Amino acid sequence: MITGDLQPSGVGCFGEVDFGGVDMTRKENPFKNLLSPIKIGPIELKHRMVLAPMNETLSGHDGQVTEQTIAYYAARAKGGAAMVITGAIMGTKLASRYVWGRNLYCFHPGHIAGLKMLTDHIHYFGSLACAQITIGFGRQGHSADHHELVPAPTAGLPYEIALDKVPKAFIPVLKRTEHPRSFLVGQMTREMTIEEIHSEQKEFARSCQLLVLAGFDAIEIHAPHGYLEHQFLSPLTNKRTDMYGGEWRNRKRFINEVTEQVRYAVGSGVALGVRISAEEHMEGGLTREEMIDVAKDLEARGIDYLSLSDGGGYEESGHLVPDKERAEHIPEHGRDFKKALKIPVMVASQHDPVKADKDIGDGMFDISALGRQLFIDPEYPRKIMENRPEDINFCRYCNTCLILCNSGVGPACPHNPELGREYANPEYKIGPRAEHESIIPKGMLAGDMPCLDRPWWKPEFPLIEKCWRPFRGPGKG
Ligand SMILES: Cc1cc2nc3c(=O)[nH]c(=O)nc-3n(C[C@H](O)[C@H](O)[C@H](O)COP(=O)(O)O)c2cc1C
Repeated sequence: MITGDLQPSGVGCFGEVDFGGVDMTRKENPFKNLLSPIKIGPIELKHRMVLAPMNETLSGHDGQVTEQTIAYYAARAKGGAAMVITGAIMGTKLASRYVWGRNLYCFHPGHIAGLKMLTDHIHYFGSLACAQITIGFGRQGHSADHHELVPAPTAGLPYEIALDKVPKAFIPVLKRTEHPRSFLVGQMTREMTIEEIHSEQKEFARSCQLLVLAGFDAIEIHAPHGYLEHQFLSPLTNKRTDMYGGEWRNRKRFINEVTEQVRYAVGSGVALGVRISAEEHMEGGLTREEMIDVAKDLEARGIDYLSLSDGGGYEESGHLVPDKERAEHIPEHGRDFKKALKIPVMVASQHDPVKADKDIGDGMFDISALGRQLFIDPEYPRKIMENRPEDINFCRYCNTCLILCNSGVGPACPHNPELGREYANPEYKIGPRAEHESIIPKGMLAGDMPCLDRPWWKPEFPLIEKCWRPFRGPGKG
């Protein structure tokens, strides 16, 4: 049923990559650029290889961290990733009601406990922890019963995926199995009101503060792939006539406001990145020039890095999770965005370490975010650090992982028998706090985290007569 190359782990995995004449037998490590440290805002990555955000669908049904979530990320930290980025975490209560499959949640103090255990594991194994957080799936979300109107920029605009747009290996699963098949057609949407937009933005900023308390070193606002911010940007999905629609600066308003508020809320103690699609690849959709303009706006609002992905979302998913050929032009995106920006640019899907090293050296991009490549081989960064690239087990793009995550089953890989079962491996258990781990989450003390103007669960300031006192500022000293 699955059409990928199902060779056992390790067999033939090296033959596909051309090491560009680099002599792998020499002692000196040739991956100088990949291995050079880089600063992003207040933090420094020890090298340029990070785990790309992938919703691994390992959370509990209520968005809680599970034993397997922790073990999965711990394995990638132990494998040497400089930074481990989580899959998209739902950052508001409303957003959490419209997901696909399962996601982690962070919008209530009760979510901190599990997320703190997660960052503890990542830190213990020597990586930095980055939370990717989303303000909503918009029209790409589904309610549990598939019957509700989904909050989105525009009413009456459900998505629909043509079968020829999904990876081929998907088709048999989609034809036979009801839950994954319902992914092909979105639910009917309703237009978010301006009041709702504002309260969602505030709740989201507050949720980002909770992530800092949970110990994350970096926060990445998730805005690519046809999700809510992207929907506001795109003329294909934003048909509003108010201050959030119509002309270009109005369509940029939502993502700009979200970024401003999060930057303000989390202070300067954590690195802040935003992930966007480099272009939409759909007729009449967002162009690379427009997305470069978005990136410049975000840089002006104080983000510390830009993460580039690609594509217009579910209706154009070939660019979201690219095959080998589609991934080849990604460094060119990086180059174009880098020309316009001063902050570091991260790109996805550059599995070949020799080419990635050269592209970084040539100024095409700064950081390599590896997704499926670290599903199959979490030890990839360590193998580069130890100059053992011949031991890397390379991704065959069979997309078994994607099919399973999309079906809500959790990832597995025909070439990595451990993926999805990391919890059974005692190597990913941690001990008492190690010396390199800070006792107080670094972001809490390294920068100001201002009190936001009201608790997120109150729609407005309640009156003093009703016995409520608004939050005070931090006061003197
Ligand atoms: C199972 C799966 C889940 C993904 N979930 C997310 C996500 O939550 N957020 C995101 O920005 N990208 C997501 N992506 C895209 C990846 O971050 C990455 O850009 C893409 O897989 C290409 O990189 P790769 O070739 O190294 O896998 C996902 C990809 C896969 C395979």
